[in-house]
Amino acid sequence: MKDLISVLYISRATFKPLPATKGIEPDVGRILQASRTHNAQHRIGGVLFYCDGYFLQCLEGERDKVKALLETIRQDDRHTDIRIVSENEIKRRQFDHGSMKYTAINDAVKLMLRTHGFERFDPYQFDANHFRYLLKTLKDVDDQTPADLHEQLPKDTDTGDSSAKRTRLRPQAAPQRDPWARGLAAAALAVALLALALSVT
Ligand SMILES: Cc1cc2nc3c(=O)[nH]c(=O)nc-3n(C[C@H](O)[C@H](O)[C@H](O)COP(=O)(O)O)c2cc1C
Repeated sequence: MKDLISVLYISRATFKPLPATKGIEPDVGRILQASRTHNAQHRIGGVLFYCDGYFLQCLEGERDKVKALLETIRQDDRHTDIRIVSENEIKRRQFDHGSMKYTAINDAVKLMLRTHGFERFDPYQFDANHFRYLLKTLKDVDDQTPADLHEQLPKDTDTGDSSAKRTRLRPQAAPQRDPWARGLAAAALAVALLALALSVT
Protein backbone atom coordinates (compact mmCIF):
# COMPACT_ATOMS: atom_id res chain seq x y z
CA MET A 1 0.00 0.00 0.00
CA LYS A 2 1.20 3.51 -0.83
CA ASP A 3 2.31 5.92 1.94
CA LEU A 4 -0.59 7.93 3.27
CA ILE A 5 0.03 11.34 4.78
CA SER A 6 -2.01 14.04 6.43
CA VAL A 7 -0.92 17.67 6.13
CA LEU A 8 -2.47 20.52 8.06
CA TYR A 9 -1.75 24.12 7.13
CA ILE A 10 -3.08 27.58 7.77
CA SER A 11 -3.00 30.67 5.59
CA ARG A 12 -4.38 34.17 5.24
CA ALA A 13 -6.81 35.04 2.44
CA THR A 14 -5.72 37.88 0.17
CA PHE A 15 -9.24 38.77 -0.98
CA LYS A 16 -11.46 41.15 0.96
CA PRO A 17 -13.92 39.11 3.03
CA LEU A 18 -17.64 39.62 2.48
CA PRO A 19 -19.85 40.17 5.52
CA ALA A 20 -20.67 36.74 6.97
CA THR A 21 -24.36 37.18 6.17
CA LYS A 22 -23.68 37.16 2.42
CA GLY A 23 -23.13 33.40 2.33
CA ILE A 24 -20.09 31.60 0.98
CA GLU A 25 -17.27 33.78 -0.36
CA PRO A 26 -17.16 33.50 -4.17
CA ASP A 27 -13.42 32.81 -4.03
CA VAL A 28 -13.91 30.08 -1.47
CA GLY A 29 -16.68 28.60 -3.59
CA ARG A 30 -14.37 28.46 -6.62
CA ILE A 31 -11.58 26.89 -4.58
CA LEU A 32 -14.02 24.31 -3.33
CA GLN A 33 -15.21 23.47 -6.80
CA ALA A 34 -11.67 23.02 -8.10
CA SER A 35 -10.91 20.89 -5.04
CA ARG A 36 -13.91 18.64 -5.52
CA THR A 37 -12.93 17.85 -9.09
CA HIS A 38 -9.18 17.49 -8.63
CA ASN A 39 -9.19 15.76 -5.25
CA ALA A 40 -11.70 13.13 -6.33
CA GLN A 41 -9.44 12.23 -9.26
CA HIS A 42 -6.43 11.87 -6.97
CA ARG A 43 -8.16 10.30 -3.98
CA ILE A 44 -7.26 13.26 -1.78
CA GLY A 45 -9.60 13.95 1.10
CA GLY A 46 -9.75 16.45 3.90
CA VAL A 47 -11.44 19.54 5.15
CA LEU A 48 -11.30 23.20 4.22
CA PHE A 49 -12.25 25.68 6.91
CA TYR A 50 -12.58 29.37 6.16
CA CYS A 51 -13.32 32.03 8.74
CA ASP A 52 -12.62 35.76 9.15
CA GLY A 53 -10.11 35.80 6.30
CA TYR A 54 -8.16 32.74 7.45
CA PHE A 55 -7.94 29.30 5.90
CA LEU A 56 -7.20 26.05 7.60
CA GLN A 57 -7.00 22.97 5.45
CA CYS A 58 -6.21 19.35 6.12
CA LEU A 59 -5.20 17.24 3.13
CA GLU A 60 -5.02 13.46 3.29
CA GLY A 61 -3.86 11.07 0.62
CA GLU A 62 -0.92 9.41 -1.04
CA ARG A 63 2.29 11.26 -0.25
CA ASP A 64 3.29 12.25 -3.78
CA LYS A 65 -0.24 13.38 -4.68
CA VAL A 66 -0.64 15.49 -1.54
CA LYS A 67 2.82 17.02 -2.01
CA ALA A 68 2.06 17.90 -5.63
CA LEU A 69 -1.23 19.51 -4.64
CA LEU A 70 0.44 21.47 -1.87
CA GLU A 71 2.88 22.92 -4.39
CA THR A 72 -0.05 24.09 -6.53
CA ILE A 73 -1.82 25.52 -3.51
CA ARG A 74 1.35 27.36 -2.45
CA GLN A 75 1.42 29.19 -5.78
CA ASP A 76 -2.18 30.34 -5.41
CA ASP A 77 -2.32 34.09 -4.89
CA ARG A 78 -5.72 33.97 -3.21
CA HIS A 79 -3.84 33.34 0.03
CA THR A 80 -0.50 34.07 1.66
CA ASP A 81 1.56 33.34 4.83
CA ILE A 82 1.13 29.60 4.38
CA ARG A 83 2.27 27.82 7.51
CA ILE A 84 2.48 24.03 7.67
CA VAL A 85 1.19 23.06 11.10
CA SER A 86 1.81 19.33 10.84
CA GLU A 87 2.69 16.61 8.40
CA ASN A 88 2.21 13.02 9.54
CA GLU A 89 2.24 9.57 8.10
CA ILE A 90 -1.14 8.00 8.77
CA LYS A 91 -2.44 4.45 8.74
CA ARG A 92 -6.10 5.37 8.30
CA ARG A 93 -7.82 8.36 6.80
CA GLN A 94 -9.95 10.60 9.01
CA PHE A 95 -11.89 12.09 6.10
CA ASP A 96 -13.54 10.50 3.08
CA HIS A 97 -11.06 10.10 0.28
CA GLY A 98 -11.81 12.13 -2.81
CA SER A 99 -13.88 14.75 -1.05
CA MET A 100 -13.12 18.13 0.45
CA LYS A 101 -15.45 18.80 3.33
CA TYR A 102 -16.17 22.49 3.76
CA THR A 103 -17.09 24.24 6.97
CA ALA A 104 -17.38 27.86 8.00
CA ILE A 105 -17.73 29.10 11.56
CA ASN A 106 -20.34 27.05 13.44
CA ASP A 107 -21.47 26.47 17.00
CA ALA A 108 -19.00 23.65 17.60
CA VAL A 109 -16.05 25.81 16.53
CA LYS A 110 -17.36 28.82 18.51
CA LEU A 111 -17.57 26.64 21.60
CA MET A 112 -14.05 25.33 21.00
CA LEU A 113 -12.76 28.93 20.66
CA ARG A 114 -14.58 30.11 23.80
CA THR A 115 -13.39 27.10 25.79
CA HIS A 116 -9.80 27.95 24.91
CA GLY A 117 -10.16 31.67 25.60
CA PHE A 118 -10.21 33.01 22.03
CA GLU A 119 -12.52 35.86 21.05
CA ARG A 120 -12.14 35.26 17.33
CA PHE A 121 -10.65 32.76 14.95
CA ASP A 122 -6.95 33.47 14.40
CA PRO A 123 -5.10 30.19 13.81
CA TYR A 124 -1.70 31.94 14.00
CA GLN A 125 -2.34 32.17 17.77
CA PHE A 126 -3.02 28.44 18.16
CA ASP A 127 -0.76 25.82 19.69
CA ALA A 128 -0.65 22.10 18.85
CA ASN A 129 -3.41 21.35 21.34
CA HIS A 130 -5.77 23.91 19.83
CA PHE A 131 -5.20 22.49 16.34
CA ARG A 132 -5.90 18.98 17.62
CA TYR A 133 -9.22 20.07 19.16
CA LEU A 134 -10.17 22.08 16.10
CA LEU A 135 -9.44 19.23 13.71
CA LYS A 136 -11.46 16.84 15.80
CA THR A 137 -14.33 19.35 15.85
CA LEU A 138 -14.14 19.78 12.07
CA LYS A 139 -14.11 16.04 11.60
CA ASP A 140 -17.34 15.68 13.56
CA VAL A 141 -19.35 18.57 12.10
CA ASP A 142 -21.44 18.16 8.96
CA ASP A 143 -20.32 19.43 5.60
CA GLN A 144 -21.62 22.98 5.06
CA THR A 145 -21.26 23.32 1.31
CA PRO A 146 -24.35 25.18 0.09
CA ALA A 147 -26.52 22.82 -1.97
CA ASP A 148 -26.73 25.34 -4.80
CA LEU A 149 -22.98 25.95 -5.04
CA HIS A 150 -22.78 24.16 -8.38
CA GLU A 151 -25.49 26.38 -9.88
CA GLN A 152 -23.93 29.53 -8.42
CA LEU A 153 -20.46 28.84 -9.75
CA PRO A 154 -19.96 27.18 -13.09
CA LYS A 155 -16.71 25.22 -13.41
CA ASP A 156 -13.41 26.94 -14.25
CA THR A 157 -14.46 30.48 -13.47
CA ASP A 158 -11.22 31.31 -11.64
CA THR A 159 -10.47 34.00 -14.20
CA GLY A 160 -13.33 36.09 -12.83
CA ASP A 161 -14.33 36.79 -16.42
CA SER A 162 -18.04 37.40 -16.11
CA SER A 163 -18.67 37.25 -19.87
CA ALA A 164 -17.15 33.77 -19.88
CA LYS A 165 -19.46 32.86 -17.00
CA ARG A 166 -22.47 34.12 -18.93
CA THR A 167 -21.46 32.16 -21.99
CA ARG A 168 -21.10 28.98 -19.99
CA LEU A 169 -24.39 29.48 -18.22
CA ARG A 170 -26.43 30.08 -21.39
CA PRO A 171 -28.40 26.92 -22.27
CA GLN A 172 -27.07 25.13 -25.34
CA ALA A 173 -29.29 25.37 -28.46
CA ALA A 174 -30.64 21.99 -29.65
CA PRO A 175 -28.29 20.54 -32.28
CA GLN A 176 -29.51 21.13 -35.88
CA ARG A 177 -29.89 18.01 -37.99
CA ASP A 178 -28.34 17.79 -41.41
CA PRO A 179 -31.03 18.53 -44.16
CA TRP A 180 -29.87 15.42 -46.07
CA ALA A 181 -30.42 13.26 -43.03
CA ARG A 182 -33.87 14.82 -42.59
CA GLY A 183 -34.79 14.06 -46.22
CA LEU A 184 -33.56 10.49 -45.90
CA ALA A 185 -35.56 9.93 -42.71
CA ALA A 186 -38.74 11.31 -44.40
CA ALA A 187 -38.23 9.01 -47.42
CA ALA A 188 -37.71 6.00 -45.14
CA LEU A 189 -40.92 6.85 -43.31
CA ALA A 190 -42.86 7.16 -46.60
CA VAL A 191 -41.58 3.75 -47.78
CA ALA A 192 -42.50 2.17 -44.43
CA LEU A 193 -46.03 3.64 -44.62
CA LEU A 194 -46.44 2.43 -48.22
CA ALA A 195 -45.31 -1.09 -47.24
CA LEU A 196 -47.78 -1.06 -44.36
CA ALA A 197 -50.66 0.07 -46.66
CA LEU A 198 -49.84 -2.68 -49.19
CA SER A 199 -49.68 -5.35 -46.51
CA VAL A 200 -53.13 -4.33 -45.19
CA THR A 201 -54.86 -4.42 -48.62
C1 LIG B 1 -6.71 27.84 0.65
C2 LIG B 1 -6.75 27.10 -0.65
C3 LIG B 1 -7.01 25.73 -0.66
C4 LIG B 1 -7.05 25.03 -1.86
N1 LIG B 1 -7.32 23.68 -1.84
C5 LIG B 1 -7.34 22.99 -3.00
C6 LIG B 1 -7.58 21.58 -3.00
O1 LIG B 1 -7.79 20.93 -1.98
N2 LIG B 1 -7.60 20.97 -4.22
C7 LIG B 1 -7.41 21.63 -5.41
O2 LIG B 1 -7.43 21.01 -6.46
N3 LIG B 1 -7.19 22.96 -5.41
C8 LIG B 1 -7.15 23.65 -4.25
N4 LIG B 1 -6.93 25.00 -4.26
C9 LIG B 1 -6.86 25.66 -5.56
C10 LIG B 1 -5.50 25.47 -6.21
O3 LIG B 1 -4.58 26.36 -5.65
C11 LIG B 1 -5.62 25.71 -7.74
O4 LIG B 1 -6.19 26.95 -8.00
C12 LIG B 1 -6.49 24.66 -8.39
O5 LIG B 1 -6.07 23.38 -8.03
C13 LIG B 1 -6.43 24.78 -9.92
O6 LIG B 1 -5.11 24.60 -10.31
P1 LIG B 1 -4.69 24.69 -11.84
O7 LIG B 1 -5.08 26.07 -12.29
O8 LIG B 1 -3.21 24.44 -11.83
O9 LIG B 1 -5.49 23.62 -12.55
C14 LIG B 1 -6.84 25.71 -3.08
C15 LIG B 1 -6.57 27.09 -3.06
C16 LIG B 1 -6.52 27.77 -1.87
C17 LIG B 1 -6.23 29.26 -1.87
